[in-house]
Amino acid sequence: QDYVWCQGIPFPAGGFNPEIIKAAHEKLVLKDEDIITVTYPKSGTHWLIEVLSLIHTKGDPKWIRSVTILDRSPWLESKRGFKFTVERKEGPPLITSHLPIQLFPKSFFTSKAKVIYVIRNPKDVLISGYYFWRFTNLAKKPESLQQYFEWFLQGHVPYGSWFEHVRGWMSMREKENVLILSYEQMKKDPRNMIEKICWFLGKVLEPGELDLVLENSSFQAMKENKMSNIIDVPEELVPASVKITRKGITGDWKNHFTPAQTQAFEETFREKMAGLPPELFSWD
Ligand code: A3P
Repeated sequence: QDYVWCQGIPFPAGGFNPEIIKAAHEKLVLKDEDIITVTYPKSGTHWLIEVLSLIHTKGDPKWIRSVTILDRSPWLESKRGFKFTVERKEGPPLITSHLPIQLFPKSFFTSKAKVIYVIRNPKDVLISGYYFWRFTNLAKKPESLQQYFEWFLQGHVPYGSWFEHVRGWMSMREKENVLILSYEQMKKDPRNMIEKICWFLGKVLEPGELDLVLENSSFQAMKENKMSNIIDVPEELVPASVKITRKGITGDWKNHFTPAQTQAFEETFREKMAGLPPELFSWD
C-alpha cells in the first residue's frame, strides 16, 4: 500500500478515501455536545478515548469491554466514522480524528464542540510510528529506522508532518473549547489528567469513580482489553501481532536514536517549532 493524498497530506491508502476526507472537512456538522479526541497518530489517541469512555460511564468498565473503541469514538475521516457521525441520533458524543487543522470539519470553528488534543514527544511518536507502519500494510512501509526517520522529518508519513500538525493545533490553544494535554503529563500524573478532563467537560466524578477510571484505563488494563486494541481494517492489513499497546513508556527513543539522529532531530525541531512557547514541549 502507499498513500492517498488530500490537499497535499498523505493518508494511509489502506482505509482512507480523499473524497470522504474532503466531505468531512466541508460538510460534516459537529454538534455542540461533541467531544473530539484529536491527535497526530501514535500520540496516545486510544488511551484518551479509553479515559473519555470511562468518564462517560463513571468508571464502569462494562462499555469499554463490550464495544470496540471504533464504535465508542469513531474516526470521523474514515468511511465508517464519517457515516456514523452523519447518521447518529443519540448516544455518547465521542469522536476521534487525526486530521490536521486545515482539514478538520469547518463546522467546528463556529460550534461549541470540545476538542482534546494530545501532544507527545515527537521522538517517541517517531519510534511508535516506525513499529506500527513497518509491520502493518496500511501505508508505505519503511525498510529501516533510518529511512523512516528521514521520512518523518520531511513529513512523508501518514497524516503528514508532525511539526505542521502540532503547530496548526497549537494555534487553537487559547480557545475555551480546546484542551491541550501531553502524553508525558498523563504518564506522570494520570489522576490529575482525569481531573483536568472532567473540569474541561464540566463533569463531576466521586473519588471512587475517579479511581475506577484510573484503574480501567491503565496500560495493563488496556493491553488486556481486546476492545481497545482493534484497528478498523482487515487482518491482511494489520496482522494480529501488531498491538496499539506496544510499550506505553516515555523516552523509548533513547533506546533507538543514534547521536547523529538526535542532533539532526533537534535541529529540525528548533527550526520548525521556532516561536512557540517552550513550556508546550516539556518532555526531556
Ligand atoms: P508505544 O508504541 O510507544 O508503546 P495511538 O493510540 O495514538 O496510536 O498511540 C499509541 C501509543 O500509546 C503506543 O505507544 C501505546 O503503547 C500507547 N498507549 C496506549 N494506551 C496506553 C496507556 N493506557 N498508557 C500509556 N500508553 C498507552
